[in-house]
Amino acid sequence: MAEKVGILIGEAEVEAKIEEMAAAISKEYEGKTVHIIGVLKGSVFFMCELAKKLTIPVTMDFMSVSSYGDGTTSSGIVRLVKDLDESIEGREVILIEDIMDSGRTLSYLVKILKERKPASFKVITLLDKPDRRVVDIEPDMTGFIIPDRFVVGYGLDCAQKYRNLPYIGVIEE
Ligand code: IMP
Ligand code: MG
Repeated sequence: MAEKVGILIGEAEVEAKIEEMAAAISKEYEGKTVHIIGVLKGSVFFMCELAKKLTIPVTMDFMSVSSYGDGTTSSGIVRLVKDLDESIEGREVILIEDIMDSGRTLSYLVKILKERKPASFKVITLLDKPDRRVVDIEPDMTGFIIPDRFVVGYGLDCAQKYRNLPYIGVIEE
């Protein structure tokens, strides 16, 4: 079945929000170097846009977990597919997420990363669907709180498609 994608949050609005988030982070971490960690593949677009707007020194690393099948339903199982390249001990770490849904992925990542003794650890997410939460966990900074809809674009996929859309879209069937 062919899907139609509608716009939930337009490109200009997303970019303005990311600029706002970057300004807040640059202020909060003034005089420090932040080590931003992206969760592949979804958070890459958000991470790059954010990183470009940060005015403090930035280092980057990536990890990959799998928690979803190819469709739009959660398997509930989180698996570490790719670990970080570098140690985070003593660093100012910010984990960058595309979206927080059940919270399972984040709760798993927070647990394993905090054990590695970063100097500080925060989580920021572009999108949050709080209605879907099954684990008691909240991001330190959120771009947009959205309703319980399956969204695509700006890194988010549906069966690996639509990540390249420059806006946050919703699949209309
Ligand atoms: P959680 O573990 O349930 O919080 O799921 C987080 C992950 O599920 C995200 O990093 C996304 O990869 C994926 N996900 C959750 N909701 C959506 C959505 O609406 N569109 C696309 N991917 C989603
Ligand atoms: Mg993700």
